[in-house]
Amino acid sequence: MEKIEVNGMIFVPMFRHEEIVEIVKGVAAKLNEAYKDCKEKPLLLCTLNGALPFCGELMMHVNFDPEIASIKLSTYEGTESTGSIKKLIGPTTSVEGRNVIIVEDIVDTGISLRNLRRIMEEMGAKSAKVCTLLFKPGKFHAEEKKSGSMILPEFVGKEIPDAFILGYGLDYNDSFRCLRDIYVLKD
Ligand code: IMP
Ligand code: MG
Repeated sequence: MEKIEVNGMIFVPMFRHEEIVEIVKGVAAKLNEAYKDCKEKPLLLCTLNGALPFCGELMMHVNFDPEIASIKLSTYEGTESTGSIKKLIGPTTSVEGRNVIIVEDIVDTGISLRNLRRIMEEMGAKSAKVCTLLFKPGKFHAEEKKSGSMILPEFVGKEIPDAFILGYGLDYNDSFRCLRDIYVLKD
């Protein structure tokens, strides 16, 4: 597809599927190096639904044998806490004492990431590192400064500019997740 038109917006290709697979292989190589001496089985924690295709591809390119589990978060719908998060599902296995690799589709403001790290700590994970396909550093730095912390995602596939994207797990109003390529909103 050369472009997608939805609600008056136009999305154009950003990464073709083949490029995405190369990005995934690159980030898998970083995990392979980081976990090569890890005696215990690391836990790949897929954050549903966005990270599904990434996690599926990633697990084919790591040269260790991780356990796979999932977690699903959602933006909290309270009147005063619109920026916060509630846990909907999971984690689907115990993370206590485990070396957890949180698998994310994209880190934008970093709110999900911060909450996932907190949840892992509360649940007694031995370590919790973040592996994300894409990272938009722009908004992240502003939000992290406000929160007083600055913990970057440890394993990043690719940094991208601050623009809305869809495809390969990433949705617009719960559509377009199943596209093989990633598209960016044209301004
Ligand atoms: P956060 O702002 O870093 O907390 O990102 C929260 C979640 O929003 C990510 O895990 C994605 O699922 C989603 N998200 C962030 N940026 C985009 C985007 O450009 N397109 C689609 N989903 C996005
Ligand atoms: Mg996500």
